Amino acid sequence: MAKYTPEFIERVAEANNIVDLISQQTQLRPTGGGLMGRCPFPDHKEKTPSFSVSEAKQVYHCFGCHKSGNIFSFLRDFQGMSFPEAVEFLADRASISLPQTSADSHEIDKVAQRKKLLLTANKWALHFFREQLKRQPAEHPVKSYIQKRGLNSEIIETFQIGYAPPEWDGLVQFLNSKGISMEIAEEARLVKARSQGKTGHFDIFRDRLIFPILNNQGDPVAFGGRIIETGEPKYLNSPETPVFVKGKILYGLYQTARYIRAEDNVLIVEGYMDLISLYQMGIRNVVATMGTALTADHGRFLKRLTKNVVVLFDGDAAGQEAAERSLPLLLGCEIFPKGLLLPDNQDPDDFVKASGAEELTRRVKQAPDLFSLNLSQWMKAYRGEASEKIQLIDRLKTLFRVISDRRLQDLYLQESAQKLGVALPWLRQALGTENMAKNTQSHQPNKPLFVSESSRGEDDLAKKVNLAEPEYRLKGAPAAELLLLSLVLKSRANLHLIESENALDYVTHESVKKLLVKSLDVYRQNPEKFDRLISQLMTSVDEPRFLFHDDPLLRENNKEHHGGETRSELMNEVLEENKNEGRLIFDEETEQKLLKDTFRRIRENSLRDQLKKLALELKMNPTPEKMQLMMSLQKDLSSLNRKEI
Ligand code: UTP
Ligand code: MN
Repeated sequence: MAKYTPEFIERVAEANNIVDLISQQTQLRPTGGGLMGRCPFPDHKEKTPSFSVSEAKQVYHCFGCHKSGNIFSFLRDFQGMSFPEAVEFLADRASISLPQTSADSHEIDKVAQRKKLLLTANKWALHFFREQLKRQPAEHPVKSYIQKRGLNSEIIETFQIGYAPPEWDGLVQFLNSKGISMEIAEEARLVKARSQGKTGHFDIFRDRLIFPILNNQGDPVAFGGRIIETGEPKYLNSPETPVFVKGKILYGLYQTARYIRAEDNVLIVEGYMDLISLYQMGIRNVVATMGTALTADHGRFLKRLTKNVVVLFDGDAAGQEAAERSLPLLLGCEIFPKGLLLPDNQDPDDFVKASGAEELTRRVKQAPDLFSLNLSQWMKAYRGEASEKIQLIDRLKTLFRVISDRRLQDLYLQESAQKLGVALPWLRQALGTENMAKNTQSHQPNKPLFVSESSRGEDDLAKKVNLAEPEYRLKGAPAAELLLLSLVLKSRANLHLIESENALDYVTHESVKKLLVKSLDVYRQNPEKFDRLISQLMTSVDEPRFLFHDDPLLRENNKEHHGGETRSELMNEVLEENKNEGRLIFDEETEQKLLKDTFRRIRENSLRDQLKKLALELKMNPTPEKMQLMMSLQKDLSSLNRKEI
């Protein structure tokens, strides 16, 4: 089910400006070549700005850490939005209504309207709770509780923590004053109608510390309210509503996606306080499941950001059970799960407070595969009896069925055979993995078993647009050709120049050639579109940084792939002269010089290639024609070299 057409996506992209979005995260200043700022990604702390944003091209690129992307990838990497979520977010931002997808578009419209109203009610409620917390005096129990739990003001700001006062109708009155209908407030599960015989409504959250639950767009979709000190229930949570589907929301992701992306690793914890506590201690690549089981949707969301997951379980029976339940689910999502059982019935919040962030990080780094963790738990009282073996094998059977990576399956199989003390071929047969292996041998991985019907296909388009096998592979292309491509995409003037010099005839790498042809085509059809071409190409190449003049010559040593020398002395000089803080700065004259030299280098490479082939043929079967050709090629080559001087 393709949700949005490429035309719609383009319209949405065009209606938003990447500069506005990024400016919210880092200060951008105009420089010669465009806008520069400090890299906003948390894994890249820098003093001198090397993060560039092009307004005309609607792309960003960091010359320090080489992250680059367009408006969609920024929202994904910074806030964890899926592709459709980013499209919806940007459409909303630009007041573009979403396309109608079915016959009863009227119904869909109504649902969307309703969701908007619910979100508005939640936004006002959040505002109310936050104000209430700010308003309480220092000696108020909620303030002492916050202090006791060690929450500082920065964390309260980041997680928008609030307080629901004890009165029965504080929120009711506030929402009324903001024109929110009680019907909507009721549906948002913020208020309840008084019981029969009485009129009016009352607040659901009273005298509780409020943790708002945000979706990936940053809108509050639900609330968790903790009792101050002790009482039942400890947490009161919004039930599911049209805007809050528990299995599709991970607490904290809105704030932590950028850290998860940056570290290429995520820790999964259970509780609000666990996440917040780790965050405050500097461990920020965390999400929380809010006490429910992990779902396949959670797995899929995380996989957008990283495949490396460490699940932190409380060291109690419930934690143990959660560890068991989450394993098949994560494996089914093609994630590589590791697991950490915390000691002494501690939860992550307790642990990090008692033992410190460093100790937790150390343990996380050493965490075993969740598979191994579970296996050793299952084998705690194992004595190697035949009946025990059979029971274990039955457990393993369901697990192996969801592992689609053949290599992983094999490794776990070996580990199991060794630990159980049985022969590998026997175990293979007992588990029936022989047949499974056949299924997975093709490149088509098994469909994960645990993907829910409703969510299937949501990301199809994202795959097509964003995550699919890249259409163009630039890795391994000759450095000079990569440089040529990046220079061409940089300006129309450069494009004109390569056209007039017939440089295309000499380009050898297939993807580079295709991209150059495409650039020329787009330019001929619509020069303005050419400026934004790079933003579109970002998602269809394997290495977006090659699209920027991010000195591939210095970084990519691809001599091996292409025989001849690919770095000319002159180019190196040009590059060295203009290197500044690891980034290339060109004035127009240098750029022209570089471009010309790049042609020359590409021609030279192409001539050398031809000569090599010809020499081989001559050896096998010498003819006068070949001799002739050889001489003429040699002449070309030496005239090229003479020009250089
Ligand atoms: P825990 O009982 O482990 O609580 O529940 P906690 O997170 O350690 O909370 P503190 O430290 O005592 O404040 C883990 C998560 O399960 C959900 C909440 O999301 C909680 O963070 N939960 C727990 C509820 O929804 N309701 C409850 O009554 C208890
Ligand atoms: Mn706790």
